[in-house]
Amino acid sequence: MTLILGIETSCDETAAAVVEDGQRILSNVVASQIEIHRRYGGVFPEVASRQHILSITPVIEEAMDEAGVAWDDLEAVAVTYGPGLAGSLLVGVNAAKGIALGCGLPLLGINHIEAHIYANWLPPLPLPQPFDLAQGRLWGGKRGGGEEPYIVFPVLCLVVSGGHTELILMSDHGQYQRLGGTLDDAAGEAFDKVGRLLGLDYPGGPAIEQAAKYGDPTAFDLPRAWLGDSYDFSFSGLKTAVLRIVKAHEPFGLAQGRRQLPVVDLAASFQVAVVEVLVEKARRAAQEHGAEQILLAGGVAANKLLRQEMAERSDLPVLCPPIFLCTDNAAMVAGAAYFRYQAGYRSGWDLDVIPNLKLAHEAQ
Ligand code: KG4
Ligand code: ZN
Repeated sequence: MTLILGIETSCDETAAAVVEDGQRILSNVVASQIEIHRRYGGVFPEVASRQHILSITPVIEEAMDEAGVAWDDLEAVAVTYGPGLAGSLLVGVNAAKGIALGCGLPLLGINHIEAHIYANWLPPLPLPQPFDLAQGRLWGGKRGGGEEPYIVFPVLCLVVSGGHTELILMSDHGQYQRLGGTLDDAAGEAFDKVGRLLGLDYPGGPAIEQAAKYGDPTAFDLPRAWLGDSYDFSFSGLKTAVLRIVKAHEPFGLAQGRRQLPVVDLAASFQVAVVEVLVEKARRAAQEHGAEQILLAGGVAANKLLRQEMAERSDLPVLCPPIFLCTDNAAMVAGAAYFRYQAGYRSGWDLDVIPNLKLAHEAQ
């Protein structure tokens, strides 16, 4: 039995978790700063790092208490060291170093994107039924529907979060080939920016999903950036198209314009435009690279339309983590660390934060 303490502070969640053997979550504590950043309409980096400093010790103590384990029981300490906000990452890395050094444990620096991918290995217990959209472990496609959920390489990973939109072919544990990514905004960033344009709550992703429930996705024919045969994405044109519609309502005055704005129809039309491109590119990348399965990861993977469309439109089984493991958490960090720990990977005491860390750095 290998118990790993995971720590995550790359953006605006202070998180700590204890995970057994990379799969069984003993505790998973997340202190969200959403309420603090809401007034700025986005993450304020300096405020985020200060808040991490205040939260990190109580969050780690709570994770250890909830797991009911002692420091001696741990086998390693894992921490996100990039990509992310430098000041935020520093808090987690220094806390992890302090614990590892103090307890005589190995330290493992983990890539945040890899951690998101490994959220797929953390099975929700009890095992949900297929097509349970909220629980994850979705088994769509014509093959694999309802069969035993285990992951078979190579897999095509669609990583969609506030900072990243990447298509990654994973041929084995720790083996990644980047097929494409966004040329401008990340998918989550586009949700957040459009949410702000529509006067919705922060973060925009969940707010748009909620508003879209009451809207008509065919009300506006918003642009899709296919970019030829490439596996790259672009969401800036889509965002500009929404901006133009919002501006067209401004002559009525801001308050009046907002009242006139068909917010729910715009939210639904925007959501379907993003999902359509993500699903089609992931489906084609998986097919053209002989993937066995498609894995969704990152905050935007919490989006039910994305989960549903990916499962319905793909011939391959589609897996996604349960919703609470899609957005930032530390269980995924400890989960990814387990596989690295088994492969003999260890970080030195000189581990430093790398705000623009790439997944290619991680090849074992
Ligand atoms: O993975 P995450 O927690 O942080 C990063 O690593 O960036 O992702 C946060 C992003 C935000 O942009 C948020 O709006 C988006 O994920 N998000 C969603 C949903 N839930 C969170 N986007 C669309 N639909 C959702 N249900
Ligand atoms: Zn993330």
